[in-house]
Amino acid sequence: MDSFYDLGARLRAAFWLILAVALILSTLVAFTGVPAAYGFASFLIFIACVLAAPRNLPTRIEQKDRRRRPIQKSNADVSMRLVVEAFPDPAILLNRAGHVLFFNPAAQNAFASLREGGHISSVIRNPAFLDALSDAPERGRPITVTYAERVPVGRRMSVTVAPLARPNERVPSILVLLRDLTELERINQMRADFVANASHELRTPLASLRGFIETLQLSAKDDSGARERFLKVMAEQAARMTRLIDQLLSLSRAEMNVHVPPSNLVDLNVVIDHVRDAVEPLAQEHNATLEVQRFPSPALIRGDRDGLVQVLQNLIQNAFKYGGKEGVVKIETRYIQPNGRGNGRYSISVVDNGQGISAEHLPRLTERFYRVDVAYSRESGGTGLGLAIVKHIVNRHRGELAISSKPGEGSSFTVLFDAAERPEGALDATPEAAE
Ligand SMILES: Nc1ncnc2c1ncn2[C@@H]1O[C@H](COP(=O)(O)OP(=O)(O)O)[C@@H](O)[C@H]1O
Ligand SMILES: [Mg+2]
Repeated sequence: MDSFYDLGARLRAAFWLILAVALILSTLVAFTGVPAAYGFASFLIFIACVLAAPRNLPTRIEQKDRRRRPIQKSNADVSMRLVVEAFPDPAILLNRAGHVLFFNPAAQNAFASLREGGHISSVIRNPAFLDALSDAPERGRPITVTYAERVPVGRRMSVTVAPLARPNERVPSILVLLRDLTELERINQMRADFVANASHELRTPLASLRGFIETLQLSAKDDSGARERFLKVMAEQAARMTRLIDQLLSLSRAEMNVHVPPSNLVDLNVVIDHVRDAVEPLAQEHNATLEVQRFPSPALIRGDRDGLVQVLQNLIQNAFKYGGKEGVVKIETRYIQPNGRGNGRYSISVVDNGQGISAEHLPRLTERFYRVDVAYSRESGGTGLGLAIVKHIVNRHRGELAISSKPGEGSSFTVLFDAAERPEGALDATPEAAE
């Protein structure tokens, strides 16, 4: 079969030559009186020469191979493309020269200007990465480098450059895998800051306690008046440490539970009543007035009663502390009609008429240990953790915390929770029915 194929291939290859010879011979037969039999015999000899001549024609197998190879390559391309697309992080496949063959959607999100066919250096210009890329074919094994970017947004990236062949082999492509380290490093930094802050907060009262102990042991040993005074301050410092540790534990409990939404039914009116009684002594201490507005009917939500009590207590404590002497603190309640599906929401606002907070501080108030006036907060027994705890508990309830404040005009801290069922009287309260 193959030799037949070979003969056919040779004839096809010499087609134009055979046609020219046939024309020349026909002309000779027609115009010069050469006998037609001679002409035909010459033509057959020429054909025989064409068939017998040693030539490097591709064999049928080679031809088949040639036809098959692009198909095999595209199959490999498809599998490679599927693998690249399966990576959750940005993945880019490059050819040996660093041109982009293809990439996954995560890579497109990370680099808006990434295009197939473009050179990778037009999106990642970092010299360490480009060096890793140019060394990849000779190195033959993956290497990871990290680099920082300032535009379009500040971020730290880890990039692994993996040549897809062993050394000294032909390198068909290079896989580039990227990982955004910004979030990870931010969390690590937050953890380090938290430990540093917590230690600092504990170290201050501890240093003061040690100082007093030393004084009592030495100079104030026989001074009963000084001893009384010092012991009072020492008790305050110890109380401050206890408060801080209690709040740290509350925070860690709130953080641990944040992914488990509470399932018990809680009436917010019961929570408000409990908090009103609990903060009464504090109101007297601050000479403040607490005006409480309850919900007109039971306000049921899926909640954790102790957590909700803590939320309101922390907000009211702040309102007393930062609301100025003889201030008025109001608890305002509101039911918000559902906007489409659901049972609507309950909102509780703690409103004070104190010093207020300027706008630049508002977004950071719920960060741990963030305080507008650190000295004042410490003096008044603050730890800077109250609002961080509030935020976590509210998050656990899938609720919302809204803060509005203007310097000199007081502040309003509002928590919103989904109603477990519509309150009495609001059952048919669609906008039409309400009119
Ligand atoms: N009602 C308020 N009025 C003015 N400032 C407030 C009020 N509530 C909170 N803040 C500010 O927010 C900061 C953080 O509050 P919080 O987390 O409860 O910590 P702490 O009260 O222990 O200082 C406070 O230090 C204070 O600067
Ligand atoms: Mg507080």
